[in-house]
Amino acid sequence: PTPVNKSSAVLGFESIAGSKLDGVAIPAGYSAYVLAPWGTPLNTKAAPWKADGSNTAEDQANAVGMHHDGMHFFPLNDAKDDGLLCINHEYIDQDALHPNGPSFDGITGLRTEIDEIRKEINAHGVSVVRIKLIDNRWQVQTNDKHNRRFTGASVMDIAGPMAYSSYLETRYSPDGSQARGTLNNCGNGSTPWGTYLTCEENWPGYFVNKGALSNDQQRIGISSSSTRYGWDELAGNNDERLDEFARFDVTPTASNASGDYRNEANGHGYIVEIDPYNPNSRAVKRTALGRFRHEGCTFGKLAVGKPVVFYSGHDSRFEYLYKYVSNALWDEADAKTSNRLSTGDKYMNDGTLYVAKFSEDGVGEWLPLTLDSLTTEGKTLGDSFDTLAAIILNTAGAADLVGATPMDRPEWCTVDPFTGSVYLTLTNNSKRTETNAANPRLKNNFGHIIRWDEGDKDTEFSWDIFVFGSPADADAQTNVSGLTDLNQFASPDGLAFDNRGILWVQTDNGADEVEDDTNDQMLAIVPSRLRDSSDKQQVLNADNQAELKRFFVGPNGCEVTGFAITPDYTSVFANIQHPDNWPYSDNAAEVTPAGTSVRPRAATVVIRKLDGTEVGL
Ligand code: FEO
Ligand code: CA
Ligand code: CA
Ligand code: CA
Repeated sequence: PTPVNKSSAVLGFESIAGSKLDGVAIPAGYSAYVLAPWGTPLNTKAAPWKADGSNTAEDQANAVGMHHDGMHFFPLNDAKDDGLLCINHEYIDQDALHPNGPSFDGITGLRTEIDEIRKEINAHGVSVVRIKLIDNRWQVQTNDKHNRRFTGASVMDIAGPMAYSSYLETRYSPDGSQARGTLNNCGNGSTPWGTYLTCEENWPGYFVNKGALSNDQQRIGISSSSTRYGWDELAGNNDERLDEFARFDVTPTASNASGDYRNEANGHGYIVEIDPYNPNSRAVKRTALGRFRHEGCTFGKLAVGKPVVFYSGHDSRFEYLYKYVSNALWDEADAKTSNRLSTGDKYMNDGTLYVAKFSEDGVGEWLPLTLDSLTTEGKTLGDSFDTLAAIILNTAGAADLVGATPMDRPEWCTVDPFTGSVYLTLTNNSKRTETNAANPRLKNNFGHIIRWDEGDKDTEFSWDIFVFGSPADADAQTNVSGLTDLNQFASPDGLAFDNRGILWVQTDNGADEVEDDTNDQMLAIVPSRLRDSSDKQQVLNADNQAELKRFFVGPNGCEVTGFAITPDYTSVFANIQHPDNWPYSDNAAEVTPAGTSVRPRAATVVIRKLDGTEVGL
């Protein structure tokens, strides 16, 4: 008989109760502590974090950013106690960032200095942090040469079909080869050759076009009235607008002394590759993987001599799931390369981008987004777009034309190392009024996780729905998977397999019916062990739902997001984003005393077993 690909991992902890505290909850026998919270100095150019919010923009450019999200651990010299943690910083909480933030602690007031706008931009992006396990505790290595920040202002290279195109010609980069900054870095990925991928999600909100929106701007949702944080407004008056802020106003006729920024937003919306091991390298925006609100970016199961495949969801209601297939074929020697970004050039600049169509019968089709792709009206994309760059610029608009399936907010993907099945969180979609097989619930408040297996051709896949989020006390029509108080969840978002075949599921902003009982959380399950009598993979239902166990609950107000694990599985890293009133101390489980108000700090939490053995087992 053919050996069955299934994990031997058995979860060794009891599912924990829901929790509603200003502290984290963990299973018995575990500890959780705070590592690298917002404002942690990476080098001595940054003053230590100040509880009154008075750190400067320069401090922030040399310290860990705000609102931690996706994350990856890169070992140094194959060590299990020494490595680089790459952390995304999705967005900011102005209340906490500034001394007189709009409403922190009852004080009202706005940013008063230009430096505070710079601080906001510098609090976005990515941190690379050297950490070492010393005396059984992970510690940030201040001043390590690898420590660095990528911010909303860092210069980055453009690669792939958009590089050197007229769409990217700006005052800053007249040949269209570079862009400034990365914004709203939510989910993440990594590559088989040892680089980090950070994903630009809700970047449209940072730009404004007060004139007529172009097709792509309209499709992606760039505003014609204002930006999220008003950086463009705070750039000064029309005669002396500062280039570093005025660039967020992409109005073609903007009347300002420093020029026209019409193409600035075109440098955003990509997967960005970072080589954490080379502190002198620039980040590279990999435009071949499409331009949209990328939530994550996950490579598929590798096979020598086959293309390298990446999956990425577009997180917005009724948006799509995408797959990129490289032209270059996988060579195992590239896993050990020291020319990491050149290897990125090899696999990530030339390939085919596809969008998913989920058919009614569990069969799926990947629809290519190329000039000769057929549209649902019997034309080709070439009738609507002149070049591949034009398709990339308006990826979602091209996907509309070929008939992709509108999904309930695609978030993270992850691949089962035993079966190769790909799992995707569909976080929720309260606006759904018409169902399709892959998104079968009207007003989907609780979300679900879908999975698929690739077929023999690049264009085929088969799929099923693994689990539906739900409150435990909902009727069977809503609680399709039979969840209980011990594993009820809503709004699945972060999603990651570790190499033992354990799937970690994180939640963001669970619906009220679940949040009445528990804050956002992280659950675990070993999907490849769920088999029927013919050894076919099963979905979760009332009979086997107990396999899904709650492992961790975050503090009040937060979402739990970002997953990393050391190669020996003894340390798990998860991020707490936008907590209300936490952390009170280095002990992540210590509850902030009632009546005490702390300036909230997003942070990584390290979860370890007290006996030092593998987490989860
Ligand atoms: Fe930033 Fe889609 O969560
Ligand atoms: Ca978030
Ligand atoms: Ca997310
Ligand atoms: Ca989310």
